[in-house]
Amino acid sequence: MKRVPHEDRQTTQLRQVPRRKDAGDTALVQSSDAVRAAFTDPDQFWSSPLYRHLSGVVAGDPYLIGLAAHTRDGQVPTFAFFGAVHALLLAGVEHPLADYYPSLRGDGVRPLASAGPALLSFARRYEYAIVDIVSTRLVQTNQVGRAVGLRLALAAIAPSADSRPAHLLEVGSSAGLLLRHARYRYRLGGRQFGDRASPVQLVTEWRSAQPPPDLDAIPVIASTCGVDLHPLDPSVDADRRWLEALIWPEDRDKAALLHDALALAASVPVNVVAGDAEHVCPAWSARIPAGETRVVFHCATRMHVPVDRRASFDRAIDGIAHDGPLYRIAIEGDGIQIAEPGEAAIRRFEVDGHLASVGRPNAGRRLAQPRDRRSP
Ligand SMILES: C[S@@+](CC[C@H](N)C(=O)[O-])C[C@H]1O[C@@H](n2cnc3c(N)ncnc32)[C@H](O)[C@@H]1O
Repeated sequence: MKRVPHEDRQTTQLRQVPRRKDAGDTALVQSSDAVRAAFTDPDQFWSSPLYRHLSGVVAGDPYLIGLAAHTRDGQVPTFAFFGAVHALLLAGVEHPLADYYPSLRGDGVRPLASAGPALLSFARRYEYAIVDIVSTRLVQTNQVGRAVGLRLALAAIAPSADSRPAHLLEVGSSAGLLLRHARYRYRLGGRQFGDRASPVQLVTEWRSAQPPPDLDAIPVIASTCGVDLHPLDPSVDADRRWLEALIWPEDRDKAALLHDALALAASVPVNVVAGDAEHVCPAWSARIPAGETRVVFHCATRMHVPVDRRASFDRAIDGIAHDGPLYRIAIEGDGIQIAEPGEAAIRRFEVDGHLASVGRPNAGRRLAQPRDRRSP
């Protein structure tokens, strides 16, 4: 990672931002108790020792809790706060806190034990900038590897979708990286699928004794669309930086993949509508000829819908079934769930693509990628 000199314009701008006297002076958006509770669950950062350690530091510090409590309503304060700090460091702010970030210092990071005081010092210095980010940005982590889950699901529905073309909508598409699934190369279980010449290679460990499903045997996609509250643009620097900041500092493979996918995405346009899924889903479906197959996919999105809006979020998606056959693919936890047209039951697949159970809708909704279950 290139370090920006102290005199750099970006750094200078940040240093010139007036520092608030006390974050507690401004109105909090989330309750301090709820924010503290969020930081007392360090296991959510299963692949980040740094964030696990710093979670405990934040949970025990009312000042830091006060900063994180400016996170937008419904957004996860842990992901937003650490994303904001990481964004500032990636932008070139020079501070000893950077020495604890593998994304900035590689393997030469300092021991975690002294990271807490560094975070506190950083937060006091860049308080205004942190609050500015958490109070304006959304948690929009776009993880390219999740395209494997989408392809597994599409392969699973192919037999019942038959040869009918399907219209694909991703709800919560962020920068639309999963919508470019056809442009990636997939390698799993000794087999290859997708675009063999792609610069974006998704290599997945295949643990099953059974061979992987054919990820090229998917329905013909008649149209592709995304919807997001705030679509990010892969060709805009600030959007790319925010996506990079949301990758946890130890996940350097994911960061490299993101980098490659963003470069590819800049030359592969997709249609992403700005708006709330609640309103856009019915409007999207209304534009598709009645009776044609619809596939609605959402991944790591429902968890970011405020709890009191989730029922209407679900209704907006499920209501599409009135217009044509609807497949709903949800990857929201630790499996891949597929609700098929006319079926009262939901099929749930393990991460290896094999059928794990058939259950009632909403009965123990357990969706995708066990090792990835807490990622934003
Ligand atoms: C964590 S990102 C996941 C992005 C992508 N699905 C992935 O898995 O890589 C969640 C996205 O959902 C979007 N989102 C949250 N609530 C939404 C809603 N009600 N309607 C549309 N998009 C929403 C957010 O803006 C964010 O970009």
